[in-house]
Amino acid sequence: MNCNPRCGFLKFAPFALSISLSLVSLLANAQKPSLEKKVIEPAKEWLDNRQKPINAHGGGVLYHNGIYYWYGEHKIAGKSEENFADGGIHCYTSKDLVNWTDAGMALNVDYISADVDLQYGCLIERPKVVYNAKTRKFLAYFKFYPKGNGYEVANVGVAISESPAGPFNYSHKFLAASPKGSGDFSMFVDDNGDLFHLAVRKPDKTFIIAKMRDDYMLPAEEYKECIGIEHHTEAPGIVKINGVYHLLGSGSTGWKPNVARYYTSTNMYGPWTLQKNPCEGYNNVDSVGVEKTFGSQSSFVLKVNGIKDAYVAMFDIWRPEMPIKGRYIWLPIVLKQNKFTINWQDSWNLDFFKNK
Ligand code: GAL
Repeated sequence: MNCNPRCGFLKFAPFALSISLSLVSLLANAQKPSLEKKVIEPAKEWLDNRQKPINAHGGGVLYHNGIYYWYGEHKIAGKSEENFADGGIHCYTSKDLVNWTDAGMALNVDYISADVDLQYGCLIERPKVVYNAKTRKFLAYFKFYPKGNGYEVANVGVAISESPAGPFNYSHKFLAASPKGSGDFSMFVDDNGDLFHLAVRKPDKTFIIAKMRDDYMLPAEEYKECIGIEHHTEAPGIVKINGVYHLLGSGSTGWKPNVARYYTSTNMYGPWTLQKNPCEGYNNVDSVGVEKTFGSQSSFVLKVNGIKDAYVAMFDIWRPEMPIKGRYIWLPIVLKQNKFTINWQDSWNLDFFKNK
């Protein structure tokens, strides 16, 4: 068949159209900035995969099967007055510690029932999650202040899940060592699977310790004073390196930052030795130095998987006037003669440890 010019155009038009559409989308994608982050920028706003500020304050991290799970206090827009942690536990996941995906609420408060422990208005602070290899359960612990009594009586809340991202089911609460309970705490799993609860006893602020039962649900023994740790030590994070326990914490000044405290010991019960302030440098974002721990308070010490001697110190900048956007300071720990040094970095990622 003879084809006129018009017929030729019609024949090639669909191809031309699809080529130009592909070109347009190629150009558009080339101009679209990648949302993948390359570095952690301490004290700057940290956005999740949906570009929302990460809402996981006073948190801790669990590494399980190739993934890091970050659990923290969820604060609710328009609800969490001052700095109240009244929204439950929020979980985020990551493979590189830089990019975090919102995995949703791991534990929710109950907005409807008024006769349950987790009714809206209770406070859930400083959540920490551990894995019990014997029972194959994940257990979340949190400072738990039932509704109505403010910060008067501090329970330890326990919730359980079959999988790391939850949902966790609230199990029970207990009072450690005194009718007023205990405040800031750490749950430390030793090499043999023993779990220890280290906490600040209320109201005298003595630092105490007890081993938990094998199922991790309740203390297995009477609490004892942790020898060598000063009274009023809060916000503890613990790791064990070459047989030595390292405890990073803070003083006790509410939401206001103070100087970091750092202890080492070869025995969890003590005696612990006070070491010099491990923080060095200056937070250029907020113009604050080590005398106020860069304007923050510790929450956890994270062991990086697969890299020798790689640890990360996690801190919160508490911002009562803007609680949800409270920022985070995560800094790499350098070991010098088996002691911590935590140097300010404007930006960093896991390559820091490889280039050390
Ligand atoms: C801090 C503590 C926080 C919160 C606050 C309340 O010292 O670390 O978790 O309880 O006090 O003032």
